[in-house]
Amino acid sequence: MKSKELVISMSKICKSFPLEMGGVQQVLFDISFDVHVGEFVAIMGPSGSGKSTCMNIIGALDTATSGKYALYGRDVTNMTTDELAIIRNEYIGFVFQQFNLLSKRSVLDNVMLPLMYRGLPMSERLRRAREMLERVGLAKFESYLPNQLSGGMKQRVAIARALAGDPKLILADEPTGALDSKMGNEILKFFKQLNKELGITIVMITHEFDIAKYADRLIHIRDGRINYDGKIPRDERKL
Ligand SMILES: Nc1ncnc2c1ncn2[C@@H]1O[C@H](COP(=O)(O)OP(=O)(O)O)[C@@H](O)[C@H]1O
Ligand SMILES: [Mg+2]
Repeated sequence: MKSKELVISMSKICKSFPLEMGGVQQVLFDISFDVHVGEFVAIMGPSGSGKSTCMNIIGALDTATSGKYALYGRDVTNMTTDELAIIRNEYIGFVFQQFNLLSKRSVLDNVMLPLMYRGLPMSERLRRAREMLERVGLAKFESYLPNQLSGGMKQRVAIARALAGDPKLILADEPTGALDSKMGNEILKFFKQLNKELGITIVMITHEFDIAKYADRLIHIRDGRINYDGKIPRDERKL
Protein backbone atom coordinates (compact mmCIF):
# COMPACT_ATOMS: atom_id res chain seq x y z
CA MET A 1 0.00 0.00 0.00
CA LYS A 2 1.24 3.48 -0.86
CA SER A 3 1.89 5.38 2.33
CA LYS A 4 -0.22 8.46 2.87
CA GLU A 5 1.18 11.85 2.02
CA LEU A 6 2.64 14.01 4.74
CA VAL A 7 0.70 17.16 5.54
CA ILE A 8 2.71 18.38 8.52
CA SER A 9 6.30 17.48 9.26
CA MET A 10 7.85 19.14 12.30
CA SER A 11 11.31 18.34 13.47
CA LYS A 12 12.80 19.70 16.70
CA ILE A 13 10.85 22.94 16.56
CA CYS A 14 11.83 25.46 19.23
CA LYS A 15 10.27 28.86 19.76
CA SER A 16 11.48 31.68 21.98
CA PHE A 17 10.10 35.15 22.50
CA PRO A 18 12.27 38.13 23.48
CA LEU A 19 11.59 39.44 26.98
CA GLU A 20 11.18 43.14 27.59
CA MET A 21 13.91 43.14 30.22
CA GLY A 22 16.25 41.42 27.76
CA GLY A 23 16.89 37.75 27.24
CA VAL A 24 14.30 35.33 25.90
CA GLN A 25 11.52 33.08 27.10
CA GLN A 26 11.54 29.69 25.44
CA VAL A 27 7.99 28.46 24.87
CA LEU A 28 8.43 25.38 22.64
CA PHE A 29 11.14 22.75 23.12
CA ASP A 30 12.03 20.22 20.41
CA ILE A 31 8.51 19.68 19.10
CA SER A 32 8.58 16.85 16.53
CA PHE A 33 5.59 15.15 14.92
CA ASP A 34 4.16 14.25 11.53
CA VAL A 35 0.54 14.37 10.38
CA HIS A 36 -0.53 12.40 7.31
CA VAL A 37 -3.40 12.97 4.91
CA GLY A 38 -6.74 11.99 6.43
CA GLU A 39 -5.75 12.21 10.09
CA PHE A 40 -7.84 13.94 12.75
CA VAL A 41 -5.46 15.11 15.47
CA ALA A 42 -6.11 17.02 18.68
CA ILE A 43 -3.34 19.08 20.21
CA MET A 44 -4.19 19.43 23.87
CA GLY A 45 -2.54 21.05 26.84
CA PRO A 46 -3.24 23.32 29.77
CA SER A 47 -3.41 27.08 29.39
CA GLY A 48 0.03 28.56 28.74
CA SER A 49 1.51 25.24 27.57
CA GLY A 50 2.30 26.58 24.09
CA LYS A 51 -0.70 25.40 22.02
CA SER A 52 -1.37 28.69 20.27
CA THR A 53 2.33 29.23 19.64
CA CYS A 54 2.43 25.78 18.06
CA MET A 55 -0.74 26.46 16.06
CA ASN A 56 0.73 29.73 14.75
CA ILE A 57 3.73 27.84 13.45
CA ILE A 58 1.63 25.04 11.93
CA GLY A 59 -0.60 27.65 10.30
CA ALA A 60 2.36 29.59 8.88
CA LEU A 61 1.30 32.63 10.89
CA ASP A 62 4.67 32.63 12.62
CA THR A 63 8.01 30.90 12.16
CA ALA A 64 10.06 28.82 14.57
CA THR A 65 13.27 29.99 16.23
CA SER A 66 14.94 26.72 15.27
CA GLY A 67 14.02 23.33 13.88
CA LYS A 68 12.47 22.37 10.57
CA TYR A 69 8.87 22.56 9.44
CA ALA A 70 7.49 21.40 6.13
CA LEU A 71 3.88 21.81 5.05
CA TYR A 72 2.88 19.39 2.34
CA GLY A 73 6.50 18.90 1.44
CA ARG A 74 7.27 22.62 1.21
CA ASP A 75 9.91 23.85 3.64
CA VAL A 76 8.30 26.68 5.58
CA THR A 77 11.21 27.24 7.95
CA ASN A 78 12.79 30.22 6.25
CA MET A 79 9.91 31.67 4.27
CA THR A 80 9.33 35.42 4.14
CA THR A 81 6.09 36.94 5.42
CA ASP A 82 4.75 37.20 1.87
CA GLU A 83 5.61 33.60 1.07
CA LEU A 84 3.94 32.50 4.31
CA ALA A 85 0.76 34.37 3.35
CA ILE A 86 0.63 32.59 0.01
CA ILE A 87 1.20 29.12 1.44
CA ARG A 88 -1.35 29.81 4.17
CA ASN A 89 -4.04 30.78 1.70
CA GLU A 90 -3.29 27.82 -0.52
CA TYR A 91 -2.94 25.03 2.03
CA ILE A 92 -4.82 25.89 5.19
CA GLY A 93 -8.41 26.52 6.22
CA PHE A 94 -8.61 28.23 9.60
CA VAL A 95 -11.41 27.91 12.14
CA PHE A 96 -11.16 30.14 15.21
CA GLN A 97 -12.88 30.22 18.58
CA GLN A 98 -14.46 33.63 17.84
CA PHE A 99 -15.44 32.66 14.26
CA ASN A 100 -13.64 35.73 12.79
CA LEU A 101 -16.40 36.45 10.27
CA LEU A 102 -16.73 39.85 8.63
CA SER A 103 -19.81 41.25 10.38
CA LYS A 104 -20.86 43.63 7.60
CA ARG A 105 -20.59 41.04 4.85
CA SER A 106 -23.17 38.43 3.95
CA VAL A 107 -22.67 34.77 4.75
CA LEU A 108 -21.98 34.16 1.05
CA ASP A 109 -19.34 36.91 0.85
CA ASN A 110 -17.63 35.52 3.93
CA VAL A 111 -17.39 32.06 2.40
CA MET A 112 -16.08 33.48 -0.89
CA LEU A 113 -13.26 35.31 0.88
CA PRO A 114 -10.45 32.72 0.60
CA LEU A 115 -11.16 32.48 -3.12
CA MET A 116 -10.37 36.17 -3.69
CA TYR A 117 -6.71 35.61 -4.42
CA ARG A 118 -7.09 32.56 -6.60
CA GLY A 119 -7.71 34.29 -9.89
CA LEU A 120 -11.01 32.45 -10.31
CA PRO A 121 -13.88 34.02 -12.25
CA MET A 122 -16.72 35.36 -10.12
CA SER A 123 -19.12 32.68 -11.37
CA GLU A 124 -16.76 29.96 -10.20
CA ARG A 125 -16.25 31.61 -6.80
CA LEU A 126 -20.01 31.85 -6.36
CA ARG A 127 -20.55 28.25 -7.39
CA ARG A 128 -17.93 26.98 -4.99
CA ALA A 129 -19.09 29.11 -2.04
CA ARG A 130 -22.68 27.95 -2.54
CA GLU A 131 -21.56 24.34 -2.70
CA MET A 132 -19.78 24.77 0.65
CA LEU A 133 -22.81 26.44 2.25
CA GLU A 134 -24.87 23.51 1.03
CA ARG A 135 -22.41 21.16 2.66
CA VAL A 136 -22.73 22.83 6.06
CA GLY A 137 -26.52 23.01 5.72
CA LEU A 138 -26.76 26.79 5.41
CA ALA A 139 -27.67 27.26 1.76
CA LYS A 140 -30.82 29.14 2.71
CA PHE A 141 -28.88 31.67 4.75
CA GLU A 142 -26.46 32.97 2.14
CA SER A 143 -27.76 36.54 2.23
CA TYR A 144 -27.89 36.78 6.04
CA LEU A 145 -25.39 38.77 8.06
CA PRO A 146 -23.35 36.72 10.57
CA ASN A 147 -25.03 38.37 13.57
CA GLN A 148 -28.43 37.11 12.44
CA LEU A 149 -27.22 33.55 13.05
CA SER A 150 -26.67 31.47 16.19
CA GLY A 151 -23.14 30.73 17.39
CA GLY A 152 -23.24 27.20 16.00
CA MET A 153 -24.38 28.48 12.61
CA LYS A 154 -21.65 31.12 12.59
CA GLN A 155 -19.09 28.43 13.19
CA ARG A 156 -20.55 26.41 10.33
CA VAL A 157 -20.14 29.47 8.09
CA ALA A 158 -16.52 29.66 9.24
CA ILE A 159 -16.10 25.98 8.38
CA ALA A 160 -17.64 26.55 4.93
CA ARG A 161 -15.19 29.42 4.45
CA ALA A 162 -12.30 27.21 5.55
CA LEU A 163 -13.39 24.51 3.08
CA ALA A 164 -13.97 26.88 0.17
CA GLY A 165 -10.27 27.23 -0.57
CA ASP A 166 -9.96 23.43 -0.87
CA PRO A 167 -7.27 23.31 1.83
CA LYS A 168 -4.91 20.43 2.53
CA LEU A 169 -5.48 21.03 6.22
CA ILE A 170 -8.20 22.41 8.49
CA LEU A 171 -6.61 24.05 11.50
CA ALA A 172 -9.07 24.76 14.30
CA ASP A 173 -8.13 26.66 17.47
CA GLU A 174 -10.60 25.95 20.29
CA PRO A 175 -13.44 25.77 17.70
CA THR A 176 -16.12 25.11 20.31
CA GLY A 177 -14.77 27.50 22.92
CA ALA A 178 -17.48 30.10 22.31
CA LEU A 179 -20.36 27.63 21.98
CA ASP A 180 -22.62 25.92 24.50
CA SER A 181 -22.04 22.19 24.78
CA LYS A 182 -24.94 21.17 22.52
CA MET A 183 -23.77 23.38 19.65
CA GLY A 184 -20.18 22.47 20.40
CA ASN A 185 -20.97 18.78 20.03
CA GLU A 186 -22.69 19.42 16.70
CA ILE A 187 -19.61 21.19 15.39
CA LEU A 188 -17.36 18.37 16.60
CA LYS A 189 -19.60 15.74 14.97
CA PHE A 190 -19.46 17.76 11.80
CA PHE A 191 -15.65 17.81 11.89
CA LYS A 192 -15.71 14.06 12.41
CA GLN A 193 -17.97 13.64 9.40
CA LEU A 194 -15.77 15.86 7.19
CA ASN A 195 -12.79 13.81 8.24
CA LYS A 196 -14.36 10.37 7.82
CA GLU A 197 -16.47 10.95 4.73
CA LEU A 198 -14.33 13.39 2.77
CA GLY A 199 -10.93 12.45 4.19
CA ILE A 200 -10.15 16.03 5.18
CA THR A 201 -7.12 16.35 7.45
CA ILE A 202 -7.93 18.18 10.67
CA VAL A 203 -5.75 19.50 13.48
CA MET A 204 -7.74 20.85 16.39
CA ILE A 205 -6.34 22.73 19.36
CA THR A 206 -8.14 22.37 22.68
CA HIS A 207 -7.52 22.44 26.42
CA GLU A 208 -10.39 20.01 27.11
CA PHE A 209 -10.07 16.24 27.04
CA ASP A 210 -13.79 15.76 26.26
CA ILE A 211 -13.27 17.74 23.05
CA ALA A 212 -9.96 16.12 22.15
CA LYS A 213 -11.76 12.75 22.32
CA TYR A 214 -13.48 13.45 19.01
CA ALA A 215 -10.11 13.15 17.28
CA ASP A 216 -8.34 9.85 16.55
CA ARG A 217 -4.97 10.93 17.84
CA LEU A 218 -3.90 13.12 20.72
CA ILE A 219 -0.73 15.14 21.01
CA HIS A 220 -0.42 16.43 24.55
CA ILE A 221 1.82 19.39 25.33
CA ARG A 222 3.00 20.33 28.77
CA ASP A 223 5.34 23.27 29.38
CA GLY A 224 6.21 23.45 25.70
CA ARG A 225 7.11 19.79 25.32
CA ILE A 226 5.19 16.86 23.86
CA ASN A 227 4.59 14.41 26.68
CA TYR A 228 2.11 12.14 24.86
CA ASP A 229 1.46 11.35 21.20
CA GLY A 230 -0.83 8.47 20.33
CA LYS A 231 -4.36 7.11 20.45
CA ILE A 232 -6.89 8.86 22.65
CA PRO A 233 -6.23 7.39 26.10
CA ARG A 234 -9.17 6.02 28.07
CA ASP A 235 -8.43 8.23 30.97
CA GLU A 236 -7.26 11.82 31.01
CA ARG A 237 -5.14 11.02 34.08
CA LYS A 238 -2.81 9.05 31.81
CA LEU A 239 -1.60 12.34 30.35
N1 LIG B 1 4.02 36.90 21.13
C1 LIG B 1 4.46 36.51 22.33
N2 LIG B 1 5.41 37.20 23.00
C2 LIG B 1 5.86 36.80 24.19
N3 LIG B 1 5.41 35.70 24.84
C3 LIG B 1 4.47 34.96 24.24
C4 LIG B 1 3.93 35.33 22.96
N4 LIG B 1 3.00 34.39 22.61
C5 LIG B 1 2.96 33.51 23.64
N5 LIG B 1 3.84 33.84 24.62
C6 LIG B 1 4.06 33.10 25.87
O1 LIG B 1 4.19 31.75 25.54
C7 LIG B 1 3.59 30.90 26.53
C8 LIG B 1 2.62 29.96 25.85
O2 LIG B 1 1.55 30.70 25.30
P1 LIG B 1 0.46 30.08 24.33
O3 LIG B 1 1.14 29.44 23.18
O4 LIG B 1 -0.51 31.14 24.02
O5 LIG B 1 -0.19 28.96 25.25
P2 LIG B 1 -1.64 28.26 25.17
O6 LIG B 1 -2.24 28.56 23.84
O7 LIG B 1 -1.36 26.81 25.39
O8 LIG B 1 -2.44 28.84 26.30
C9 LIG B 1 2.95 31.83 27.54
O9 LIG B 1 3.84 31.94 28.63
C10 LIG B 1 2.87 33.15 26.80
O10 LIG B 1 2.97 34.22 27.68
MG1 LIG C 1 -4.06 29.46 23.31
